[in-house]
Amino acid sequence: MNFELKTLSLASAAKTSTDTLIVLISDHFQAGKDPLSLLIGKALKAKDFSSKAGKSLHAYAVSGVVASKIILLGLGESQPSDVKSALTGVMPSLKSAATAKIAVVFAGPSSPQHLQAAISAVADGTYVYGATKSKLTERKLLKVLVGVEALNAKLKDAFSASVAMVQGIEFAKEWANRPANYATPTLLGKAALSLSKFAGISCEVLGPKEVAKLGMGSFMSVAQGSAEPLRFIVLKYQGASKTEAPTVLVGKGITFDTGGISIKPASEMDEMKFDMSGAASVLGVFKSLSLLKPKINVVGLIPACENMPDGLAVKPGDVVTSMSGQTIEILNTDAEGRLILCDALTYAERFKPKAVIDIATLTGACVIALGAIRTGMFSNEDSLAQGLQNAGEEAMDLCWRMPLDDEYADTLKSNFADVANVGGRAGGAITAAKFLHRFAEKYAWAHLDIAGTAWKGGAAKGATGRPVGLLLHYLLAQQK
Ligand code: BES
Ligand code: MN
Ligand code: ZN
Repeated sequence: MNFELKTLSLASAAKTSTDTLIVLISDHFQAGKDPLSLLIGKALKAKDFSSKAGKSLHAYAVSGVVASKIILLGLGESQPSDVKSALTGVMPSLKSAATAKIAVVFAGPSSPQHLQAAISAVADGTYVYGATKSKLTERKLLKVLVGVEALNAKLKDAFSASVAMVQGIEFAKEWANRPANYATPTLLGKAALSLSKFAGISCEVLGPKEVAKLGMGSFMSVAQGSAEPLRFIVLKYQGASKTEAPTVLVGKGITFDTGGISIKPASEMDEMKFDMSGAASVLGVFKSLSLLKPKINVVGLIPACENMPDGLAVKPGDVVTSMSGQTIEILNTDAEGRLILCDALTYAERFKPKAVIDIATLTGACVIALGAIRTGMFSNEDSLAQGLQNAGEEAMDLCWRMPLDDEYADTLKSNFADVANVGGRAGGAITAAKFLHRFAEKYAWAHLDIAGTAWKGGAAKGATGRPVGLLLHYLLAQQK
């Protein structure tokens, strides 16, 4: 899908050749004498349309307008979220009409946030999953022209950042959506390697032997019940001088989570193919970086494996030794995410990072706490937490800071190892974060629990591509 940004008055919008012309109208709309203004004026007068958020009007073959179909959308006070919901509402009709070209025109002032909202709504609403369909299934929408009243450098920057962002989101969705047999650790490794064709990106994929040599006993214990060999993916993006400390992203890459010997119930277990959404978000961010080339350094680490029950699988009560040297009593093999992340967190130390952010579909408890609206965010550093909170708001990809009081770690005590991998049910998202906290003492660290936000269940089952937007905004804000 190709996006283009242009200055477009309503008069010139009327002359633009496109299939569907979408005009966004706020409460402060001022009519001119052009054909579109006349249409809007008549519709308002007839009360067939209002500028209120949520209102729309579809019109066809309007004289003086080249596009055969026109959609007027009300924005009310024109918050970025109004832009997003107005456009999201009409995307299904474009999808079913197989529309190839649209123009989205702001009939009034617009901000960087407005552009981002428009671009992400259009991209999101027309995404089509096709990887495992027998008939060619792909997005019909090819060209999107975004028209603004007046162009400036800020709008241009926001436009390119948003276009790169939605491409990263789409890459993340694509990989997260793939079933586990089409997204094995090996295939994830190949997806990461494919990104190294872009300037500034390099990638190394480690296998079982190298990981054993590193002493990642905790990670290996999760993988040992699976016939699929594990992978440890190391991605590097260098956009600044080598001496500049990188931000490290660590993505949970459980390509399928059965729970292991502590097996999950059968219903909805298919959704555990999404348990590599953290990994997919790291891949997505690298895709965006490859397009935007910001002046920063970023490392992406992905421990990837399946969590399966098997004769060789790790058992409840087994004690394993992590790369940090800490021993872990595995009381529940379904708390596997933290077991693979802790070794990646230790590995991250070698980069002397500015900050380390892990992203994981870690706990059902986080879904209970925050639902599908906000990602759970934990951090041992206030400015990092604030940076992520702000980035989430800018990206419209929200998170919420959760506590890390040491008392929450009390339930992780073990009689047989340095730490147990589970506490009780109470505060489950926090005890999981406290487990990770022990392995992230040497740097500024944040943990994003995306169990509730990375995918949707039910009829709209599919990956959301979150939190690529949040992460990208956070990283771009690190540019000097
Ligand atoms: N991948 C799951 C977390 C999850 C559950 C994400 C539901 C999205 C929806 C994780 O590996 C897991 O199984 N966590 C357990 C931890 C428990 C055993 C302490 C959970 O949340 O039940
Ligand atoms: Mn699990
Ligand atoms: Zn899991």
